[in-house]
Amino acid sequence: MKSLEIKLNSSCSIYLGAGLFEKALLVDFCRSLSKRLVIISDDQVPDEIGLGVKNLLDRANLDSRIFYFPAGEIHKTRETKAQLENVLLDHQYGRDTCLLALGGGVTTDLVGFLASTYCRGIPFVSLPTTLLAMVDASIGGKTGVNTRHGKNLIGTFYQPLAVFMEIDLLKTLPTREWNNGVVELIKHGLIADADLFYKIQASVGSLQHDPKLLLEIIHQSCLIKKNIVARDEKESGMRQWLNYGHTIGHAVESIEEYQLSHGEAIAIGLLVETKLSIEAGLLGASVLSDLKKLLAAYQLPLKTRAFQNKERFLHQLQGDKKSKARTPHFVMLNKIGKAREHGCQYAFPVAITLLEEIFDWAALEFAMC
Ligand SMILES: NC(=O)c1ccc[n+]([C@@H]2O[C@H](COP(=O)([O-])OP(=O)(O)OC[C@H]3O[C@@H](n4cnc5c(N)ncnc54)[C@H](O)[C@@H]3O)[C@@H](O)[C@H]2O)c1
Ligand SMILES: [Zn+2]
Repeated sequence: MKSLEIKLNSSCSIYLGAGLFEKALLVDFCRSLSKRLVIISDDQVPDEIGLGVKNLLDRANLDSRIFYFPAGEIHKTRETKAQLENVLLDHQYGRDTCLLALGGGVTTDLVGFLASTYCRGIPFVSLPTTLLAMVDASIGGKTGVNTRHGKNLIGTFYQPLAVFMEIDLLKTLPTREWNNGVVELIKHGLIADADLFYKIQASVGSLQHDPKLLLEIIHQSCLIKKNIVARDEKESGMRQWLNYGHTIGHAVESIEEYQLSHGEAIAIGLLVETKLSIEAGLLGASVLSDLKKLLAAYQLPLKTRAFQNKERFLHQLQGDKKSKARTPHFVMLNKIGKAREHGCQYAFPVAITLLEEIFDWAALEFAMC
């Protein structure tokens, strides 16, 4: 199978394909850096992946070590970052170091943030191993950690030197993680590419087993994210579209204390925010039922208690980064494949009274039993 290259900017490319690592692409790239290499991964990424990369570098006589941190969203914190910093300092890693972020979105966000501040900034390379990290987290240069106040509130914009998407690594991905990634693919389809949305709809049950289609869909999705980010790197305008489903989804994640996975929370967010576009008279009602069917086909549980306490939910939304004067703002859809823009505006205020009605609807729609 052919591998693909997407130029993210003048200094960073995505390499996408199967068998990339064996084709010496990664080794040659690492050798060209002339740096001490540190692989950082979480402790649940299968050993064969971490040790596979380490062995590859060893066989090429490249100086490398591997360090692990505890897996999971609850460990995407300043504390984990500090622990990793201490490990690197203990081993006397300096500015001659390049970090390799090997894992899902938690790893690429955390290691990217670590790289951006360690010794005032050292290079890093992203090696995403989940579908979600491939199509979303590893592109665009957003890094960060969570705090008890919410998701990703502390972080930086910091680009990797390169991103290597080896789709063979997805073979060990559990179904739940797989489906998390599909949610972000669906989001990209909804905001910018109807063809992508319908392709995902048509490939329920087969995507995971069809490497050619998978490569095509990941490629299509990466291009969407790349193009949006290229027009608005620091998220003051169009990049807000990528937040579709995330205004509500992040609040659900935080209130549920990360017991739902990111994709599961965002699936609920996509449905609620689609309902908002329908209530605002922008979108036909059938989109909501089509979307619900599609998410259910990917076994997303679509259950939460987060809407039971309206006041708490609203408070959480008011802390969203798109809020202005404590009024929550939302990305809206005009149709599948087309997010709304009006002048230079990409997210729109929604009255508290309408939000409260939607919370009542959501409390019933996503009830636990
Ligand atoms: N920076 C961005 O622009 C951006 C965009 C989207 C999401 N994110 C972030 O991404 C995170 C979610 O990423 P995620 O869903 O990849 O979660 P994750 O990184 O927690 O990975 C999920 C689980 O899968 C395991 N895993 C990873 N690769 C595997 C493989 N190949 N086989 C088997 N298991 C594997 C991990 O050990 C982990 O337990 C969230 O923190 C979210 O905020 C960031
Ligand atoms: Zn997301």
